[in-house]
Amino acid sequence: MNQDLQEQLADLAVTGGERINAAADLDELAAVEAETIGKRSLVSEARRSLGAVDEQERPALGRLINEVSEALRGKIVAKRLHLETEADAERLATEALDVTLPGRVPLRGSHHLITTALEEITDIFVSMGYDVAAGPEAETSWYNFTALNIGPDHPARAETDTIYLDYGRPGEVLLRTHTSPMQARYMQENPPPVYVVVPGRVFRQEDVDPTHSPVFHQLEGLAVADGITFGDLRGTLETFAKRYFGKERSVRFLPSYFPFTEPSAEMLVSCFACDGSGCRVCSNEGWIEMLGCGMVHPAVFEAVGYDPGAVTGFAFGLGVDRFAMVRHGLTDLRHLFGGDIRVLEQFR
Ligand code: DAH
Repeated sequence: MNQDLQEQLADLAVTGGERINAAADLDELAAVEAETIGKRSLVSEARRSLGAVDEQERPALGRLINEVSEALRGKIVAKRLHLETEADAERLATEALDVTLPGRVPLRGSHHLITTALEEITDIFVSMGYDVAAGPEAETSWYNFTALNIGPDHPARAETDTIYLDYGRPGEVLLRTHTSPMQARYMQENPPPVYVVVPGRVFRQEDVDPTHSPVFHQLEGLAVADGITFGDLRGTLETFAKRYFGKERSVRFLPSYFPFTEPSAEMLVSCFACDGSGCRVCSNEGWIEMLGCGMVHPAVFEAVGYDPGAVTGFAFGLGVDRFAMVRHGLTDLRHLFGGDIRVLEQFR
């Protein structure tokens, strides 16, 4: 019986060792551990039966049991360490980052061409000392028309041109048709002298075509002080044109008409693409129409509570979308508003 047990233990030392060596992973090793030296293993059973063994044989058998179980335990510990190291190495290998692979570049947003144009234009005036103001897009007809000396029968007031918002008082609230109403709002809020530009969105009853859109952008300018002359208007706007289109450009003023300025003018700049000889950019004119301007009409000063005897001033308004189109040789306004995105992507 004892002889038998000794043989079995010797056997276990060998086969157990082999099984430990062969364990493919930590789970398998745990199973082998339970079977070879766990509570129900031959080793534990033998230890439990030790009390019944002949006193003479007991020490030798006890030693053998300990030797076998310690040998197996040692092998298990070594094997576990080995498997764990291997698992770590494997995880490191599979999770490793190949820093030589090309990165995935995230899509970057960018400013719309019109935003860029608005900022560039605004910056030029800011550098000349102008403030920047913003006004409401939903405007009253008083600010949009009346304060600007646009009479009750002026065609611009017609619903065919202006988009009215009917808040129970028909004809009184509208989407501003230009940024000029901010002239009146700004002067009401600020005593002279005033130097301000107002970039913003404006709205008109228009069908969409290559040169028209019901929503477009303007920049309004206003300078009011004691003794401002048409010479100041000319110098300021010429400086602006050269800063925006290049210092070789020349400007030209043609008489025009706006109810809120007197005299009124239109400013043209020599074509930056052909230098005046005529090309596609300037529709063969050699000149590009830039903006409307003039000396602030006394009726506007009166409407906002300024004394027309004490101050003079000039105002101007330009179409930002047109500026951006002319600058970049775009021929269809629709590219700016929901057209083929690739057109706009060129200007990021
Ligand atoms: N508000 C005018 C328009 O939308 C543009 C304009 C012309 C603005 C002359 C001005 C000005 O301030 O003086 O057509």
